[in-house]
Amino acid sequence: MKSSLLLRSIRSSFTNSTSSISTHLTRRGYGTESVPERKVAVLGAAGGIGQPLALLMKLNPLVSRLALYDIAGTPGVAADISHINSRSEVAGYMGEEQLGQALEGSDVVIIPAGVPRKPGMTRDDLFNINAGIVKSLCTAISKYCPNALVNMISNPVNSTVPIAAEVFKKAGTYDEKKLFGVTTLDVVRAKTFYAGKGKIPVADVNVPVVGGHAGITILPLFSQATPKSNLSDEEIVALTKRTQDGGTEVVEAKAGKGSATLSMAYAGAIFADACLKGLNGVSDVVECSFVQSSITELPFFASKVKLGKNGVEEVLGLGPLSDYERQGLELLIPELKASIEKGVKFANQN
Ligand SMILES: NC(=O)c1ccc[n+]([C@@H]2O[C@H](COP(=O)([O-])OP(=O)(O)OC[C@H]3O[C@@H](n4cnc5c(N)ncnc54)[C@H](O)[C@@H]3O)[C@@H](O)[C@H]2O)c1
Repeated sequence: MKSSLLLRSIRSSFTNSTSSISTHLTRRGYGTESVPERKVAVLGAAGGIGQPLALLMKLNPLVSRLALYDIAGTPGVAADISHINSRSEVAGYMGEEQLGQALEGSDVVIIPAGVPRKPGMTRDDLFNINAGIVKSLCTAISKYCPNALVNMISNPVNSTVPIAAEVFKKAGTYDEKKLFGVTTLDVVRAKTFYAGKGKIPVADVNVPVVGGHAGITILPLFSQATPKSNLSDEEIVALTKRTQDGGTEVVEAKAGKGSATLSMAYAGAIFADACLKGLNGVSDVVECSFVQSSITELPFFASKVKLGKNGVEEVLGLGPLSDYERQGLELLIPELKASIEKGVKFANQN
């Protein structure tokens, strides 16, 4: 495929529907040449997720500056990616002394820093290492770019998002509209599996996924999936389970070489693109995300969220649930509650 064609097809995948980013922008009265300047920082940019995510952000025409930060390896990744002839200027930053520079002026900060799962590990097993990494990165965010939208990818998301919130609260910079746990991969998986089972063109499929981002806390709402399909109850149960275990499927297939990286990078790029569109004033941008929420008794919950110029514009409700989904919701609440509390406790004790 010619490079311009490849770029165009990747760009069009950033949009939910058939319209392209440039169509959105011209509809709002400005041409692509006057797209606002936006800086995106990727923390953990030399990792399995970080590298392909950095590549996809380099291809996103909404990004004007791309800062790639890691504790090692970023000069090479940045040099490599910077040769791509797309809009953004790329700079690599390595080591804590360069973190401030990487963050300064950022509109969106994406965090895939940390260790991934190995076979036999749960996301919770990653807690101790990743909690510390997230805490120190968020401390720097509150200092250098307190107004940025934070896209948290590092696991366990059910705990790292509450950790980030506590860090920001302590620093006096917490804005609940600007902190997001990235659960887009669960949506991406639910769409793919549903389309496959229902023999529906995947590009037409939408499936909300609510709850959290680990095991049974991931609750795909196939009763609200569009287009409708006539899958049996057994098939819905199997699809739900496969969506919940999607991460483990990849961890086992990679046999010790990490967890989902390429599909996660795609999902992270989709979510960051939605954040940028919201910031730029594009209307009706809706994605699922794990955010501060009052739609259940829990302080954080993943659901459909409308994105706008300040981040979260509206946390949308759950909508009508099937009996099976209502049961799933009841089951997930205690586990998700414990993970949230674990994050809050860590942030306040360390
Ligand atoms: N949200 C999701 O759906 C989802 C999906 C898959 C993986 N993940 C999580 O994403 C994280 C990264 O996974 P990966 O496969 O890319 O791992 P990886 O080990 O390949 O990469 C992690 C990168 O983080 C860097 N890093 C470590 N400490 C850092 C620090 N203090 N500051 C900056 N960078 C630091 C490492 O140097 C490395 O380059 C893991 O926590 C994983 O569980 C989340």
